[in-house]
Amino acid sequence: MTQKRIFSGIQSTGIPTLGSFLGAISNWEKLSAEYDCLFCVVDLHAITVRQNPETLRKYGREMLAWLIALGLNPEKNILYYQSHVPAHAELSWLLNCFAYMGELNRMTQFKVKSAKNEENINVGLYSYPVLQAADILLYRADLVPVGEDQRQHIELCRDIAGRFNKIYGDIFTIPEAYIPPVGAKIMSLQNPTEKMSKSDENVNSCVYLSDSPDAIIKKFKRAVTDSDNTVKFSQEKPGISNLLTIYACMTGKKIADCEAEFADAGYGAFKQAVGEAVAQNLAPYRDEHARIMSDIGELDAIAAKGAKKAAESAAETLAKVKKAIGFVV
Ligand code: TRP
Repeated sequence: MTQKRIFSGIQSTGIPTLGSFLGAISNWEKLSAEYDCLFCVVDLHAITVRQNPETLRKYGREMLAWLIALGLNPEKNILYYQSHVPAHAELSWLLNCFAYMGELNRMTQFKVKSAKNEENINVGLYSYPVLQAADILLYRADLVPVGEDQRQHIELCRDIAGRFNKIYGDIFTIPEAYIPPVGAKIMSLQNPTEKMSKSDENVNSCVYLSDSPDAIIKKFKRAVTDSDNTVKFSQEKPGISNLLTIYACMTGKKIADCEAEFADAGYGAFKQAVGEAVAQNLAPYRDEHARIMSDIGELDAIAAKGAKKAAESAAETLAKVKKAIGFVV
């Protein structure tokens, strides 16, 4: 039996956080055992907002190294940069001619991003979802693991693919959004009613996978809690509840057992323990990431191999599409 195929596009505009690690990334290794997976660092999407060339290059490599460090084996999975496979841009153009402005006008992410970026509402930002559709359709992906915020883009991809197939026959596989079993939702350490986010201005609100053990422990010591000094999970105690969630994830224990463990401890000791658990858990990934980044030649060779495999698979779809449209072949 052939395995179902998964395509996942990963933004490279920053270092993964503890929030994205526990919320999504920790599922990837499991996915890669069950499915035939492509993980693509979507650098073409990144330039829909202005990027500094050095930073773009650095973060692209950093993200690829994180994917590997977090357990995605490049022998088993196809790992690559979007900009290394020209078929993405090519299919994107073709699909532009099958996507309606009315549809793109409705995209929530476009509305949000253009409100934030009034001085640079470029055409790429507008057709971003069409490039995303091309990413997915090129590889005949069955499933696309995404967060809730991307569901609309997947729906659009399905609509475009269906429209194309209706005209030209059965060319594209219609993909489905795959919302993996919910990982934990991790909140900001400084403002625990908001999601932990790498765009938060307060560096203490967010733990990066690249943070040193010392830095991690310090951030947890400074975590905002409340004045009641009992370690209990409850809606009225968002800070403590968040720390309990993190501790439970890190230790594999149940929340109730974590509460019991710290029943007689003050917040100081509890925060220290959470910080240490996180630091200890993340250390091997951080070390592995550093090891991978110490040999850029090898990392680039992995990316080149990935791009070659991706390009071969993409070429099959693209050839079918071009023939169907009526280009001279
Ligand atoms: N738009 C996605 C995000 O913001 C990233 C992405 C680009 C993507 N292409 C994709 C995700 C294809 C899934 C499939 O997270």
